[in-house]
Amino acid sequence: MNLYDRIPNNVNLSEDKKLQRALEKWLPNYLDWWREMGPEGFQEKDVWLRTAVDVGSEGWAHFDYVKMPDYRWGIFLEPPQPDAKVGFGDNYGRPAYQEVPGEFRNALRRIIVTQGDTEPASVEQQRQLGKTCPSLYDLRNLFQVNVEEGRHLWAMVYLLHGYFGRDGRDEADELLERRSGNPDKPRILEAFNQPCDDWLNFFAFTMFTDRDGKYQLSALAESGFEPLARTCQFMLTEEAHHMFVGDTGLGRVCRRTAQLMKEGEVRSLGGIPLEIIQKYINFWFSYSLDLFGGEISSNSADFFAAGLKGRYKERDQYTDHSATNENFTMTIVEDGELKTREVPLRNALNEVLRGEYVKDCEKGLARWNRVLAEEGASERLYLPHPRFHRHVGEFAGHTFDLQGNLISREEFEQKKSEWLPTMEDREYVRSLMHPVFEVGKIANWIAPPAAGIKGKPFDYEYVKL
Ligand SMILES: [Fe+2]
Ligand SMILES: [Fe+2]
Repeated sequence: MNLYDRIPNNVNLSEDKKLQRALEKWLPNYLDWWREMGPEGFQEKDVWLRTAVDVGSEGWAHFDYVKMPDYRWGIFLEPPQPDAKVGFGDNYGRPAYQEVPGEFRNALRRIIVTQGDTEPASVEQQRQLGKTCPSLYDLRNLFQVNVEEGRHLWAMVYLLHGYFGRDGRDEADELLERRSGNPDKPRILEAFNQPCDDWLNFFAFTMFTDRDGKYQLSALAESGFEPLARTCQFMLTEEAHHMFVGDTGLGRVCRRTAQLMKEGEVRSLGGIPLEIIQKYINFWFSYSLDLFGGEISSNSADFFAAGLKGRYKERDQYTDHSATNENFTMTIVEDGELKTREVPLRNALNEVLRGEYVKDCEKGLARWNRVLAEEGASERLYLPHPRFHRHVGEFAGHTFDLQGNLISREEFEQKKSEWLPTMEDREYVRSLMHPVFEVGKIANWIAPPAAGIKGKPFDYEYVKL
C-alpha cells in the first residue's frame, strides 16, 4: 500500500521522513479500528461520498462512489498566512508559534487529545445506525459524517505525530484503544459515551454535539499555535455538513409529526410525538453544554493568556484582545441558593463560548418551530435552561427544573420522566426504526428532505446495496 496514494495531503508528507514513518505505523491500526468499529454491515458497499482533495473554497470536495474502507482520509491544513500573529492573550501581536510552546506542551496536547478522542467516539456511537436508516439519502449522510469524523481523527493524529514526538505517538495509539461506552476504557467526554442507537438520537447528536465541536474548533481556529489553527479551520468546513444533517433531520421529524397530528394520534399513526422530541432535545442539549467545561475555569484563563484558545470569532467580534480588565457576571450556587458573582473575564471564557453556542442552538429551535407553524401545529419546542441536567461545572450536583429554578433532588426524580427520555420512550423510538433501503422511499416517521445532495434528487441511488 502506497501511503501517499492513500493519504492526500498538503503538508509535504513525502518530505518529512519521521512523520512518514510514524503515520505508516499508525495507518494499519487505524484501518483495523475502522473495520472493527466503523459502520457495521456496509463496509463493502459503494457510497456516494465527498472526499476532500484540496482546501480551495471551490470544489474542495470531490463526489464519487467509494467503499468506506477505501476512503482517502486526507491531511489538509488551510494555507499558512504570511506573518501570522498571536491574536489574543499576553503574547498578542507576537509571531504565531510554529512549534509547541514548551510551557504549554502538556495543556496543548490535552486539548488536541480531547478533541481527537471525540472523532472516533462518534463513529463508534453511530456504528449500528445504518441498519435502520429511514432512506438511502439519510444512510449516505450518516456515512459521510462517519468518514469525515475519521478524517478529523487523522487531523489530530497528524498534530500529535508531527509536533509532540514520542508521547504524541503514544496518545495517537490510545485514541484507537478507547471505546465509546466501554466501562474499562471509555472515551474521555461523557456525551461521547452515551448510546446513539436510533435516528432521533443521531439527529439530536449531530445538531447539538457536533455543534459543540463547531465552537471548540472555532476557538482553536484562531490559535496562536499555527498548525492547530490551520487544521481546525479546514475541519470546520466539513463540520458544517454534520450540523446540517442534524438540524434538517430534526426539522424533517418535526414536519412529519405535525402532519400526523392533523390526521390523528401521532403514536397510533407510527410517528414520534413532540413530547419525545422535546425530551431528546433536553437530553442532548444538556450533555453538550457540559462539553464546554466549568463555568469558572483557570484552564480557560491560562489557554487564553497563552494565545492558544480564544473566544468565538475573536478577531472579528472583539476589539480588546487581552481581556484583562473586564469582569463577567455569572450565576452560581452558594449555600443552596442561586447567587450572582463577578468573575475575571479570562476565567469565564468557557461560559462565554457556551453562551455563543446557546444562541446558535436557539436559531435551530426557531427553524423547527417555523416548520411546526407551517404545518398548522400550535405546539412549540424549546431549549431547557442551561442549568438543567448538568454534570460538569457549577451546576453539577444540584438539580434544576427546565426553567433553571433550583429544586430538590426528590422533585427532580419525580419529574425526570417528563423531562428526559425514559426507557419506554427509547424503546418506542427504536420500535419505529425499520430500514428503508429502496431508492426514493422514506420511513413513515420522517418527512423527505427539501433537496438531495449536491444537486442530485432525493431518489438518487446514494448507496448501492
Ligand atoms: Fe469532527
Ligand atoms: Fe462532526
